[in-house]
Amino acid sequence: MAPFDSTLHLRRDPYRFVGKTCAKIGSDAFKSRLMLEPTVFLSGVEAARFFYDTTVFKRHGAAPGFLKKTLFGEGGVQGLDDAAHRHRKALFLDLVGPGRTDDLTRQTVAAINALLRKPGRIVLQDAFERILTRSVCDWAGTPLTDGEIPAHSRMLSHLFEHAGAVDHRQLLARWARKRADRWAAGRIADARSGRAATRTGSVVHRIATWRDLEGNLLDEHVAAVELLNVLRPFVAISAFLTFVAVTLATRPLEVSALRLDPARTMWFIQEVRRTAPFFPLLAARARAATQWRKHHIAANGLVALEIWGTNRDHTAWNDPDVFRPERFKDWSGDPFTMVPQGGGDHANNHRCPGEWVTQDLMVAATRILIERIDWRALPDQNLDLNMFKLPALPKDRFIVEVPN
Ligand code: HEM
Repeated sequence: MAPFDSTLHLRRDPYRFVGKTCAKIGSDAFKSRLMLEPTVFLSGVEAARFFYDTTVFKRHGAAPGFLKKTLFGEGGVQGLDDAAHRHRKALFLDLVGPGRTDDLTRQTVAAINALLRKPGRIVLQDAFERILTRSVCDWAGTPLTDGEIPAHSRMLSHLFEHAGAVDHRQLLARWARKRADRWAAGRIADARSGRAATRTGSVVHRIATWRDLEGNLLDEHVAAVELLNVLRPFVAISAFLTFVAVTLATRPLEVSALRLDPARTMWFIQEVRRTAPFFPLLAARARAATQWRKHHIAANGLVALEIWGTNRDHTAWNDPDVFRPERFKDWSGDPFTMVPQGGGDHANNHRCPGEWVTQDLMVAATRILIERIDWRALPDQNLDLNMFKLPALPKDRFIVEVPN
């Protein structure tokens, strides 16, 4: 039986609760509540196909309030539907889609290389966050001084690291959102007024001068949210890079295999993306009353698709809990079998426009980590993923010692 309300269960086991409950019931869906609101929870490839049907579901009003006050902000692309969504999404695909981010990747990779050449002790997650903050802000046309990097890196990281927290870190995330919105709105205002020299064609300039379907500029606050929708998630790639490091540290055979066969790197990072606990759930609302399996979903009713179990659906993957990069050799590429950054179509669904740059950076960083780190001589530390945290980063945030 599914619980009456699943909020506390999700707090206790955010990634696995939905899948475990589905397995117990013997279905890919169950009805329960989320923060007391009736919700149909979905898991698996077929359910994902249903969830991404834009004739059945919309996103307006689906994200919970606490995520709008932290991770997403208010008025961004995540809550749009139909033509307004497609139009705004085209902007994102133009900013960070295929072939648009080569300079950004190059700059970031050079900085990671330099980091791992300097002798000393490094907390990788924190160092990645600072490097990614510097390179994405530079590239986006909102460069930071050396002195600004630590605080801005913390501000952007708090937005995704503490968005799901239920203790004092929730306040940190809310405070970070307020500061980030204010800072980004200042950059948009600068670009519009010409007060500060803003590179024409840069991300900040493009967002500041972009017009909606009615020909209007975005409200300054919404433009700020969209600027942060480029900066924040780029910094969040740091967590995937730490998951890469944890995987290499705990799988010595994988390190050898990657050294022997660099072409394996793409399969390897896909397997990290498939298995890593990053975001737990995606939410949508029914446009009209509908049905999945035996569950009635009322008009405007909430559905939540789980990511962990969908990425491990037995109908799509053999031995889904086993870490096996070779599985990507024959992967069909079905966009509902792997949803770590959303599923379906990038232009018409809410699937992440940052998927290409995420993969490029993960591939390049994996090569550097393989070469530069002595995997047999890591400092003593706790490498267990913290499965209560979103993303489930290890407690020690991955420490390495670069020798003299
Ligand atoms: C750590 C790596 C990343 C992860 C785990 C991630 C994950 C996700 C997920 C789960 C979604 C929601 C999909 C849905 O609602 O159906 C999403 C959407 C989005 N992502 Fe990412 N993302 C990452 C990197 C990026 C990057 C690098 C960018 C941009 C530079 C980006 C920009 C966005 C935007 C703008 C959306 C909203 C798209 C829409 O509503 O149509 N993400 N991402």
